[in-house]
Amino acid sequence: MTTHTLLLLPGDGIGPEIMVEVKKVLAWFNARGTVSFETDEDLVGGAAYDAHGKAISDAAMDKAMAADAVLFGAVGGPKWDSVPYDVRPEAGLLRLRKDMQLFANLRPAICYPALADASSLKPEVVEGLDILILRELTGGVYFGEPKEITELGNGQKRAVDTQVYESYEIDRIARAAFELARTRGGKVTSMEKRNVMKSGVLWNEVVTQAHADYQDVKLEHMLADAGGMQLVRWPKQFDVIVTDNLFGDMLSDVAAMLTGSLGMLPSASLGAPDPETGKRKALYEPVHGSAPDIAGQGAANPIAMIASFAMCLRYSFELVAEADLLEKAISAALDKGLRTRDIAQKGEATISTSQMGDAIVAELDALSA
Ligand code: IPM
Ligand code: MG
Repeated sequence: MTTHTLLLLPGDGIGPEIMVEVKKVLAWFNARGTVSFETDEDLVGGAAYDAHGKAISDAAMDKAMAADAVLFGAVGGPKWDSVPYDVRPEAGLLRLRKDMQLFANLRPAICYPALADASSLKPEVVEGLDILILRELTGGVYFGEPKEITELGNGQKRAVDTQVYESYEIDRIARAAFELARTRGGKVTSMEKRNVMKSGVLWNEVVTQAHADYQDVKLEHMLADAGGMQLVRWPKQFDVIVTDNLFGDMLSDVAAMLTGSLGMLPSASLGAPDPETGKRKALYEPVHGSAPDIAGQGAANPIAMIASFAMCLRYSFELVAEADLLEKAISAALDKGLRTRDIAQKGEATISTSQMGDAIVAELDALSA
């Protein structure tokens, strides 16, 4: 039996609480005896800053590079609002993405049938929704240089961020989008702002060129602002949306809210396959953040974190049956009416973070009995 190695980086806020629930799921799979996971754990974000003065230590980075996959909780919180910019909690996550070269960020937005009423949109608009936002994650304005604030000497300052994309970066994310579309609805919508941005012009051009190798997939282009509008108007028109780092950050939050709760959505960040082993570096994390306002209360929803592990089973280890089983267990717990606070309707009874974790493990037992 192959042993898969995982680095757990719980981080800050609700990160540690939701990671505890994933550990229950890992223990369940290990006890079942058909797969084996070995875990190590380290600090990231504010927790790492408090311990080492850095948002991630070099030792933790080395572990992340060596592990088969990384499970990441969340980082940040008001406690670290005034730490220097270079060592702010988010820098740990950005370093992981950059150093591991995780250029492809998969953010599915699925509306669980039990939750169609929890969306701020009408149930018929979101029922059965299943879209995938593919966000470019290692380029664009979050990383481009120069990136600075300079004093102009007249009491004014000047802030610069730089949006840069080279064609190879666009080409590889476009190909990833077409490949993913082939396993789903067969359609890709590419979003950029070619009407005002040079990087949008190049994006559009390179995606169109790459499409020549994927003629079985339908390609459509949309300006990113119109795309945002269409996402809330009629989201079911989309299958795979491919877009840059900044637009992907925003549009994936919008898409997440369509489904009823940000607390439900997982994500996968993947690198290119290693030419020798075929293995990809990978990090899995919930789309939601560290939610410092509810940290420590047992109120967090662990589903996005657990569903992130399901994506890990699917994309890092090709354990498709196990991934399906875990996703079914999540749905089954929801179908029974179990709700953490974030997904409860007014007046509905709620359960705690650990009760939700236990319920999902109980469904795993029930489904595999
Ligand atoms: C996300 C987050 C991050 C980002 C932050 C925490 C740096 O918003 O993963 O979407 O902007 O990429
Ligand atoms: Mg974001």
